Amino acid sequence: KARTQIGGNIQAAWEALREEAMGCKRCHLWKPATQTVFGEGPVDARLMFVGEQPGDQEDLAGKPFVGPAGQMFDRALAQAGVDRSTVYVTNSVKHFKFEPRGKRRIHSKPDAGEIDACRWWIEQETALVKPQVTVALGATAARSLLGRTVTISRERGQAIALPSGGEGWITVHPSYLLRIPDRAKAEDEYARFVEDLRTAAARLG
Ligand code: URA
Repeated sequence: KARTQIGGNIQAAWEALREEAMGCKRCHLWKPATQTVFGEGPVDARLMFVGEQPGDQEDLAGKPFVGPAGQMFDRALAQAGVDRSTVYVTNSVKHFKFEPRGKRRIHSKPDAGEIDACRWWIEQETALVKPQVTVALGATAARSLLGRTVTISRERGQAIALPSGGEGWITVHPSYLLRIPDRAKAEDEYARFVEDLRTAAARLG
């Protein structure tokens, strides 16, 4: 897409949207979290990735996918031949949900109500960026994008028409790869994840 006057307006609209999201109180998760973690990347990106929610490090940094799952994601993207600086990366839920345990904050899964409350933001991001291909990283992202419960193993590896327009691809969440105890299985699953990213990127032509 050419960087035209329209492109400039989209950038300004995205910045206004991000600013608005900083004060989001659509659900209760804003209160214990440090800050809203909004999407990141060029507004004219053709490829968008959607995660679950920020983790501990993302909550502190204010940026998506910078912690351990983010490092796994970065490595897989690079291996798939995708330059992260050219893609838009966001989350289904924009505040970190956690249980305090001593000094630590333990990730807890967003529920359907929280995903639904936050969907408004991702709809706005999608309407501005208009990605040709959107990759859902894990079941929460798939649920957010499709508005229904998704079984990853059943819907992985095929193009799915998104209600918002564009094409959707479903794969696992990178933090799933970090939790596989068996080394050989972890390597297989990682390779499959890289292939999913490569396939989705190849749809751009
Ligand atoms: N996991 C996610 O789903 N998103 C992030 O930004 C970080 C970890």
